[in-house]
Amino acid sequence: MTDFTFENYREYFEEHLTDFIPDVDHKSITLYEAMKYSLSAGGKRIRPVLLLATCDFCGGKIEEALPYACALEYIHTYSLIHDDLPCMDNDDLRRGIPTNHKVYGDATATLAGDGLLNTAFESMYGDILYYMDDADAMKRRIRAAYEIAKGAGIRGMIAGQIADMESENQVGSAEMLDYVHLTKTAALIIAAVRAGAMIAGADKETLTNLTEYAENLGLAFQICDDILDVEGDEEKLGKKTGMDSDRGKLTYPALFGIEKSKERLRELTDAALAAVGVYYDNAEVFSKLAEDLAVRGN
Ligand code: IPE
Ligand code: IPE
Ligand code: MG
Ligand code: MG
Ligand code: MG
Repeated sequence: MTDFTFENYREYFEEHLTDFIPDVDHKSITLYEAMKYSLSAGGKRIRPVLLLATCDFCGGKIEEALPYACALEYIHTYSLIHDDLPCMDNDDLRRGIPTNHKVYGDATATLAGDGLLNTAFESMYGDILYYMDDADAMKRRIRAAYEIAKGAGIRGMIAGQIADMESENQVGSAEMLDYVHLTKTAALIIAAVRAGAMIAGADKETLTNLTEYAENLGLAFQICDDILDVEGDEEKLGKKTGMDSDRGKLTYPALFGIEKSKERLRELTDAALAAVGVYYDNAEVFSKLAEDLAVRGN
């Protein structure tokens, strides 16, 4: 295990961010540029860092987790490009710069998202092929890829996106809200830790603890995002605030108010910390990430 901090993992990831994007024919260069435009604009890189950190924590090599960490960030970035489209949240600003469709138009932005999604699978399958003659290593990677596909899929992120849209301007329930948060946001965060752990061949108990951590962190993450949409600073966030209430989104602050949202954020943070508490100082990168998130939303 390295003694990397979040920032160390992030820097390492950033250096390799585009390693798994294949060269394209110059005739489709606009697609390539549009994909790179959103990908290279920054972002907190929480999902790929979690994937690298769990692989490291479970005894794997972080360079071996890179094709999956990149795949996850490609998928996350595609989800943001599509989320910002006029037919979805209709946002103009993302990661501190104009949204993809504002620069390239709706059609190219849609294709840039599709391109990132498919490149994610190319990255993972390319890596799996490389391990064809090592059955154990290959199985671990297939499991990791499956976690990512599942988290991004129609029981995960995409399910959450449609539930989020269909909940606009409706009378919401706490149950529906949890479902939206768990699917649209927590699913990819859970996939990050499970994929990282699987690449390293983690045991069942570690996988269970890390999954519990990620589920709580994922829910906390979306509550924090919703709080910041009400109270946050546009400059720091790199995206417009006040959009959720304008659009009648089902959020924690809309349903329960800001104070209750902050209480819930604290509870979820504590639950995330408890899940990795058994590892004491060895799990510092995970506990610090959860604590920092709680501070961000408070
Ligand atoms: C934004 O995700 C969408 C949510 C699930 C809340 P992030 O807050 O991780 O966005 P970036 O990657 O840092 O831009
Ligand atoms: C988006 O949630 C979650 C995704 C799967 C992209 P939001 O719509 O709240 O994310 P932001 O606030 O636009 O980043
Ligand atoms: Mg949205
Ligand atoms: Mg949005
Ligand atoms: Mg939001």
